[in-house]
Amino acid sequence: MITDIFVKLFTKDPTIKRHFVKSVSWRIMGSIDTAILGFIITGKLSVGVKIGGLELLTKIILYFIHERIWHRVSFGLPASAKRTQKINKRERNLFYQSFIITRKDREQLNNHTAFTIWLTGLPGSGKSTIAAALDEWFYQQKMHSYIIDGDNTRLGINSDLNFTREGRQENIRRVAEICKLFNDAGTIVVSSFISPFEEDRQQAKNIIGENSFIEVFTDASIHTCKQRDKKGLYKLAEEGKIKNFTGINSPYERPLQADIHLNTDIYTPQACLNFIGEWLSKNHLNGSGIFQKNKTDNE
Ligand code: ADX
Repeated sequence: MITDIFVKLFTKDPTIKRHFVKSVSWRIMGSIDTAILGFIITGKLSVGVKIGGLELLTKIILYFIHERIWHRVSFGLPASAKRTQKINKRERNLFYQSFIITRKDREQLNNHTAFTIWLTGLPGSGKSTIAAALDEWFYQQKMHSYIIDGDNTRLGINSDLNFTREGRQENIRRVAEICKLFNDAGTIVVSSFISPFEEDRQQAKNIIGENSFIEVFTDASIHTCKQRDKKGLYKLAEEGKIKNFTGINSPYERPLQADIHLNTDIYTPQACLNFIGEWLSKNHLNGSGIFQKNKTDNE
């Protein structure tokens, strides 16, 4: 009976489950602390245990109510989280729909696992070149892949976004959701986004799922990127004609724990492709197989 009520509540809004488990875990910690302090102050173990026990019961409820109230308050949240919070409020009557054919079925049909290769790096560091080569390689292997790229998505679905901190955050959140959908459809995604902020890449990883997210850092010095500057954007940014340009007047936070670190200053696109191919082989991802992430670094 009680379990039914909890199951119903948790299905209605999954955040309730999180707040409930947080309330219990925090209270257990807090009450153990109180019991120990009670014992130290009074010298009586029974007093400490009684106070701790009573507190455990009452404060679980208080903490849970407190969490649920704060869940509805947008004070102090970044704009993107506020947006999500508003949508959550509006969409409380939505339920995730599962259909008959699953991601696993589609992967089996395709005879390979679906995942996202997330290329991140400065403009001109080689993301698009490597993405194109990788996509072609998958095609030759008869694996289903698709490139999702910053310029293209910003010309279409993300045409309302700019290059401010907020614009980039929303850009990455949306494209990560798209990558997730493609993966769910059984397709390998090669994504190519500067994605300069660690927080946003972490969010992308959370959305796509840690086991489906392979972070590839195309690492080239700013000097090399400026020399390549195919689009002439570094020059324009240095002349002050482009605001918030990554590497010039907007930061790039280097990934510290990329799955694959490619030094594109030194290595040719073909060599980079080989490194990625080796990594995929090692992780059984160049055909049907079980996914297991294993760090490889070419440096
Ligand atoms: S991201 O930072 O939000 O990940 P994204 O990869 O989508 O950027 O878009 C990068 C592309 O936008 C670049 O290839 C470049 O052609 C173009 N661009 C235009 N303005 C800027 C800017 N201020 N900073 C970086 N790239 C820009």
